[in-house]
Amino acid sequence: MKKIVILHSDIYADATEDELDCLEQAEAISEALHLLDYEPILLPFVLDLNQTIKKLKALKPYAVFNIVESINGKGSLIHLATALLDYLQIPYTGCHTDAMFLTSNKPLAKKIMQHANIVTPAWVTQEGFCSQSTPANVYLIKSSWEHASIGLDENSLIRYTNQENLMEEMNRRKEKLGGSCYAEAYIDGREFNIALISGMSGVMVLPAAEMLFRDYAPNKPKLVDYKAKWVADSFEYNNTIRKFDFHENDADLISALREIALRCWDLFGLRGYARVDFRVDNQGIPFVLEINANPCLSPDAGFTAALEQAKIKYHEAIGFIIKNSLK
Ligand SMILES: Nc1ncnc2c1ncn2[C@@H]1O[C@H](COP(=O)(O)OP(=O)(O)OP(=O)(O)O)[C@@H](O)[C@H]1O
Ligand SMILES: [Mg+2]
Repeated sequence: MKKIVILHSDIYADATEDELDCLEQAEAISEALHLLDYEPILLPFVLDLNQTIKKLKALKPYAVFNIVESINGKGSLIHLATALLDYLQIPYTGCHTDAMFLTSNKPLAKKIMQHANIVTPAWVTQEGFCSQSTPANVYLIKSSWEHASIGLDENSLIRYTNQENLMEEMNRRKEKLGGSCYAEAYIDGREFNIALISGMSGVMVLPAAEMLFRDYAPNKPKLVDYKAKWVADSFEYNNTIRKFDFHENDADLISALREIALRCWDLFGLRGYARVDFRVDNQGIPFVLEINANPCLSPDAGFTAALEQAKIKYHEAIGFIIKNSLK
């Protein structure tokens, strides 16, 4: 039986919900691999590279299913996993190292998008780079490297007064946001996700999902923040609802989102599977928030929900992703 190593983030005893999710993904992928007649083996990626190299060399996998999201708790090290697999010449699933690095560094990804005329919200970096001369009214201070809405809550929004104040706020909040952050214009509008997967004949765009903010008071910011993703008994978790059915009036918007997601796929050279997150402002303009080069594959994740909508079985999708890694 061919061995597939599921390489995942190293999980410590005091792991938080978002970190533990990596093991849920590993379990689901493992089950799918059994169905596909592979032998799955779970392996944590540890920062002691010699240890990881030794284990990988001993296991001699047919391929690695890479779901490493952070190393030593840092999203900024994510590309070390694929870089090491490149070095060992072991085929692996999903995006290559360059795409992993470019998309995980959000301000850098935004710069590349802006140059390619893909609309993304205006932003200001900790170093003082401003993407446009007129400031936005409200900014969201978010992590430059972390995923899973780490450090995001309703206090992440700040009204713009002056550049100095914005810089101070970023400085004050950066530790909570994984060490590095930036300010992004808050797009007060609808939120969508477009998932993509490499199928038998090229990339397929899966059905669009919208996140609804049910019963949010008018003054409550509409954010899929940390609580909405991970705190099961919170108002936010229970009232952010994913939907896949759309009124015909939305048809043009959905096809625009699908087209932009494909442009992101090409621009960043994505491979295997990915998810592009959008906000659409009140004038109907779509803004790309971020590109997830290794989106969550848990049973309850948006990617899995989109597969279900497309009537693609989970293990079938895992099979596509593996086949693609061997091309
Ligand atoms: N510029 C913005 N305007 C409005 N809302 C935003 C903006 N940026 C982020 N958000 C909100 O915060 C959430 C998380 O942001 P984003 O997707 O950029 O980060 P993430 O932590 O990498 O998420 P993921 O879990 O998808 O990897 C979004 O789903 C959205 O609800
Ligand atoms: Mg996101």
